[in-house]
Amino acid sequence: MNSFIYSYPTTQYFGKGAAKKAFDAELSKYGRKVMLAYGGGSIKKTAIYNEIVNLLKCAGKEIIVFSGIMPNPTYVKVQEGARLVKENNVNFILAVGGGSVIDCCKIISSQACTEEDIWEMEFSKGRLPVSQIPMGAVVTASGTGAEQNAGAVITNEEKNIKTGVFGAHYDFAVLDPEYTLSLSMKQVVSGAFDTLSHCMETYFGTGGEYNLSDDINEAVMKNTIRNIRAVMSDYNDITARGELMWASAMGENGILKIGKITDFQAHQIEHQLGAYTNCNHGQGLAVIQPVLYRHIYECNIKKFARFAVNVWGIEKESKSDSELASAGIRALEDFIKEIGLPTSFSEMNIDKNTDLKTIADSTNITEGCCKKLTHEEILEILKECL
Ligand code: NZQ
Ligand code: ZN
Repeated sequence: MNSFIYSYPTTQYFGKGAAKKAFDAELSKYGRKVMLAYGGGSIKKTAIYNEIVNLLKCAGKEIIVFSGIMPNPTYVKVQEGARLVKENNVNFILAVGGGSVIDCCKIISSQACTEEDIWEMEFSKGRLPVSQIPMGAVVTASGTGAEQNAGAVITNEEKNIKTGVFGAHYDFAVLDPEYTLSLSMKQVVSGAFDTLSHCMETYFGTGGEYNLSDDINEAVMKNTIRNIRAVMSDYNDITARGELMWASAMGENGILKIGKITDFQAHQIEHQLGAYTNCNHGQGLAVIQPVLYRHIYECNIKKFARFAVNVWGIEKESKSDSELASAGIRALEDFIKEIGLPTSFSEMNIDKNTDLKTIADSTNITEGCCKKLTHEEILEILKECL
């Protein structure tokens, strides 16, 4: 295992009624003005909005509403939120939603504390923001684990880039599985697949063959697979939803990444696909990941063989590592079909004339991938996904 430093700043409130417990314990630490940020309005169709507003009022907070954060949040929306925070001297940001709302607020929080443009600061000047407005996250759609880390995935439409922008950690996160009960099955499954994807991207990264992080990771992957099946057979299975919510947190709270250099090449490809097509994140990964793995598994054959045996339960018998590795990737593909995720871009209604070359050429090549891909290979992979 590589050397590491691990510290963790986000307090987790998990389970039924977690929002009240969190707000009672946390909100008195911050000033009166709270920006309540949410997405396109799903929280207003359920009891979540009223519940959160009542809890904030009971805590004596003045609410400044910031709504309309879209899936795949844009940099323009970040700037709109930051202006609102500054104009109203907001003391605390409460993000209520899925990964998009949670990510957007991370960068709003930093942008509101500086006159510099955060994008320019990070990508042109190579500096990271140093001050932020404190924040809490109430997760209504799990899978991304965005409430667990300081990175936010933001789409800069002007530059045609969807990428990770460094923000801040949340001070606390509310994980109440009941808040996910109104999600469509499509979103539950694509979110949960995102968790599985994060686990795989971490597992196949570099950093030693046998370590505790990978042992824990196998347990999280098996748990995620089992609970996706459980939710699909009983939509209201709150235990399974809770397991998926915590697995999502485990995927991104850094525990599985300890001592490793993570891969995340599939994510880099999917993010650029998203920049050009605004596609659903989990669905994009479901199409890309098996195709990518067929291109790279020979460079990490023992790990892919171990994945087949330990995660998918494939019998070793007299199979070679290569046969096992291929069987593991097939098991992943079969699972993707079983849970109704797409296996091609056409199933995602992505236009076949999408400029895949530009997407490939603008995709980041990651350090942790077992095979250092070229942009030409990424183009081949994207074409195979059509
Ligand atoms: O906007 P509203 O009306 O709330 O509707 C949302 C949205 O349409 C809806 N939704 C959320 N909670 C709901 C609900 N509908 C009914 N009931 C509820 N309880 O779900 C739709 C999708 O929401 P979104 O937040 O976009 O989904 P997700 O959580 O999958 O987040 C995706 C974003 O996170 C980024 C992705 O790239 C994408 O931009 N990621 C962030 C990561 C991070 N920061 O660590 C890691 C991930 O790899 C990922 O890249
Ligand atoms: Zn993801």
